Amino acid sequence: MNFDWLSTWNSIRLSGFLAYFLFTFSIAAGLMSRLFLFQKQKQLMLELHKLSGWAGMLTVVFHATLLSLDSYVPYQIWEIWIPFLAGNAPVLSALGTISFYLFLLVLATSDFFIKTLGRSLWKRIHFLVIPAWMLMTLHGILIGTDSAHPWAAFVYGGGIFLVIIILAFRYFESHLESTNRRKRKLLKKGAVQKGQIL
Ligand code: HEM
Repeated sequence: MNFDWLSTWNSIRLSGFLAYFLFTFSIAAGLMSRLFLFQKQKQLMLELHKLSGWAGMLTVVFHATLLSLDSYVPYQIWEIWIPFLAGNAPVLSALGTISFYLFLLVLATSDFFIKTLGRSLWKRIHFLVIPAWMLMTLHGILIGTDSAHPWAAFVYGGGIFLVIIILAFRYFESHLESTNRRKRKLLKKGAVQKGQIL
């Protein structure tokens, strides 16, 4: 069997796309787990959310490690892990590095520190996945060799469309919920004033 296609460079590209897919899937599953439509599958969604997040993290570590082994555009360790120090595309490389740290922070706080941090701070940290996802999307589109291919546009476009549509659903659902809550409160208040409810 011929494994020539599995060169370091091809593996960097492949792992970049795999990480993009896994992180996008993880965010989509996490957002969907709160939607009314998926309440019966909530536990499954949360498991998929966690699993794909950690799988994405492992894939990025692989993606970044391969960069230091590549002979065409070799990266030194500090160029990978310290933002803006890369000789090749310093800003675009930094977008990948910063996004990696944000994802790491979110994943680490989810699994190990949720009780210590308290729910409100945890939630604020958790929503850093959105800027992390935006940075990784920009990184992939702007630095990647494959971005000009129609299939790459399909992958990026599909991911962006999916996340935006789920965020829009979340927004409408929470808007509807707070309107209904307000209506119920007003109805109850009116009934109490009429002496129908004590
Ligand atoms: C969350 C973290 C990251 C994700 C999701 C990610 C994802 C991607 C994606 C999707 C591509 C496009 C591949 C292509 O078009 O063929 C890519 C390319 C690239 N990434 Fe990352 N990346 C991340 C972190 C990093 C880090 C930390 C570095 C190192 C500074 C890095 C350096 C590169 C380079 C040099 C390329 C260009 C490869 C090429 O197409 O020639 N990435 N990445």
